[in-house]
Amino acid sequence: RVRLGVLISGRGSNLQALIDAASDPTYPAEVALVISNKADAAGLERARAAGIATLVLKPKDFANKAAHEAAMTTALQEAGVGLVCLAGYMRLLSPVFVAAWHNRLINIHPSLLPSFPGLDTHARAIEAGVWLHGCTVHYVRVEMDTGPIIVQAAVPVGDDDTPDSLSARVLEQEHKAYPLAVRLIAEGRVTVEGDRALVKRAGVALTTGL
Ligand code: GAR
Repeated sequence: RVRLGVLISGRGSNLQALIDAASDPTYPAEVALVISNKADAAGLERARAAGIATLVLKPKDFANKAAHEAAMTTALQEAGVGLVCLAGYMRLLSPVFVAAWHNRLINIHPSLLPSFPGLDTHARAIEAGVWLHGCTVHYVRVEMDTGPIIVQAAVPVGDDDTPDSLSARVLEQEHKAYPLAVRLIAEGRVTVEGDRALVKRAGVALTTGL
């Protein structure tokens, strides 16, 4: 099974979705290590409850960003990680870290990229009046919330939606999309050509809350 390193900063519900998927022995990946930049991230408790190794690496405890990220890379390598999954990791990664894990580093973002990169995606989607919103799993590139798209899922936006109600609808799809993206990668069904990923989607049920 592909060994996953999951980077978190908070709640860890997407981490939980990966842990739950991997509890099926036929799933082709497993969570080997969870790293948080915050000691009080609730996701750490989820990992511990599942018997998964955890590590808290606080940027403040390092001389600079490069040293912090080097410590993350060392820990991931020592854990035999083959794929790094950002799951609500709320820090921008440097070009050195992104290059070190080129095409072995993925992220989940709560919008249909390239629409709404950055923060407050649900409020901005409502503000923009879009009818469709959703989530994207993508390979990480240096520019924030860019990179080859692996999986997307769409949800409708209702005229009485609030950022909270829309966020909950999207999150439900995130919990399907992330395990699906990891599975497709682990099964060798994703190849990256330049700026886009080619995904062998045959037999994959569309992940959609529509
Ligand atoms: C998720 O909605 C994820 O898409 C988003 O943060 C949330 C984390 O929730 N990520 C970003 O906004 C990245 N810029 P979780 O901790 O429960 O998985």
